[in-house]
Amino acid sequence: MRKNLVVAIDGYSSCGKSTLAKALAKKLGFIYIDSGAMYRAVTLYFIRNHVDINDPEAVKDALQHIELNFHSRDYQSHITLNGEEVSEEIRQMPVSEAVSEVSANKFVRKDMVKQQQRMGKSKNIVMDGRDIGTTVFPDAQVKFFMTADPKIRAERRFKEMQSKGDTSTSLEEVFENLAHRDYADTTRVESPLTRAEDAVILDNTEITEAQQLEFALEQVKLHFPE
Ligand code: DC
Repeated sequence: MRKNLVVAIDGYSSCGKSTLAKALAKKLGFIYIDSGAMYRAVTLYFIRNHVDINDPEAVKDALQHIELNFHSRDYQSHITLNGEEVSEEIRQMPVSEAVSEVSANKFVRKDMVKQQQRMGKSKNIVMDGRDIGTTVFPDAQVKFFMTADPKIRAERRFKEMQSKGDTSTSLEEVFENLAHRDYADTTRVESPLTRAEDAVILDNTEITEAQQLEFALEQVKLHFPE
């Protein structure tokens, strides 16, 4: 199979992008890259180091001191921030609450997009995020735009957090956080979340994970050379 094949998956927060992306990557033998984890890891660094997001020089300087790497094990994506595994910490509320503001910053986006494009240079990848089909890989062979009912999304994220032992956050807080991020992601100036014209819409409110994978694989077959 050819190299540089890209499946781009964009959509709202917590609508199952990473679940689909991991399953597709596994089926296709592609590398899965969670672009949201990169924005989250940068946010964690900014929180820890008190980087003022409104100070362009401080932001640019901080970005030079951040090294992100992915380690793929069993198609689960583990991210390291300057060598430290931070996959769990970046999912917690302090990061979730600050990530919209950090990911709206143009210097942060420029840096992340450059790194993401480099990752897709010589490999076949499935990447999920908000601007993958529009900005990072506008020529991706297959693009999905995922959505689901906001209440269902909040319930799914809430259950996921509970199962990981995070019982300090209520369902209402998760719902509010998602609503805030949806608003911030779709209205920001830099690469707002929008559907690429050639992206296939996938609403998974009422379908199972198996059904969505089957649907996605059919789309992939239509677009990829054997
Ligand atoms: O997918 P996620 O919820 O882990 O993403 C975290 C935040 O990062 C989300 O609020 C929007 C931002 N993001 C982005 O702006 N662009 C991407 N390609 C991926 C994520």
